[in-house]
Amino acid sequence: MSRTTWILGNWKQNHRNEAAVECAKGIAEGLEAATANPAQGCPQLRVGVAPTYLALNATAPFARSHSELWLLAQDVAAQESGAFTGEVGVAMLRDAGVEAAIVGHSERRAYYGDTNGLVADKVANALEHGLTVVLCVGESLSARDAGEHESTVISQLSESLARVDSKAIDERLVIAYEPVWAIGTGRTATPEQARDMHRAIRAHLAETYGDTGRDRSILYGGSVKPGNAAELIAAGDIDGFLVGGASLQADSFLAIVTAAAQTARPS
Ligand code: PGA
Repeated sequence: MSRTTWILGNWKQNHRNEAAVECAKGIAEGLEAATANPAQGCPQLRVGVAPTYLALNATAPFARSHSELWLLAQDVAAQESGAFTGEVGVAMLRDAGVEAAIVGHSERRAYYGDTNGLVADKVANALEHGLTVVLCVGESLSARDAGEHESTVISQLSESLARVDSKAIDERLVIAYEPVWAIGTGRTATPEQARDMHRAIRAHLAETYGDTGRDRSILYGGSVKPGNAAELIAAGDIDGFLVGGASLQADSFLAIVTAAAQTARPS
């Protein structure tokens, strides 16, 4: 099967309404040209941005008028509604035009106490209520230096998916491998490091969930830029990117989309 390639921009705590609108507009307007000359065999491409909750309503019209631009939330509540101060549930996000949520980003795990258990609740609830989930996993530098990167990531993955069964694992589950040491540091995993981890993740998903698990799109994140996107895609087994810093400007984000569209996948 040909897995969807996803190029997703995570704007984090950046872009107030005016800047968010400008960036979303630039991306929406440039998308057709950026994907115009795909490499032979390039899988379906899906492009999306994740503004802050408050900028979702302002940016939604650009996603709506360009159906190929997806709107994502940077997080989602573990419950649907109720006395949960500060949280935003799936139905509220869907009202704003959101189709997918990033869950378990390493910054949430490190600064806001998102444990694997909480992430598992968020993933299960979001999938159950019809949202696509981009589940983030990734090891720290100390885990990599100790040679424990694979075991760390696989246990994050299995604990974060503990509350979903193989029926819930369909195309609405996307995995993003983001080594913590590569996020916002300018230091990228080598294409081989990324590919090897993606293979380990895929093997685990196949073992746990069969063919549906094996066929999930697995994205790489961590200092992806226009200059390194093509070599990462060319390594194989990398089904797109979750992009932070380089997604804040329409031009650099679109250059990454173009690189992903125009790079041939190894057979
Ligand atoms: P970065 O962030 O591209 O700025 O490294 C990636 C992410 O946190 O998703």
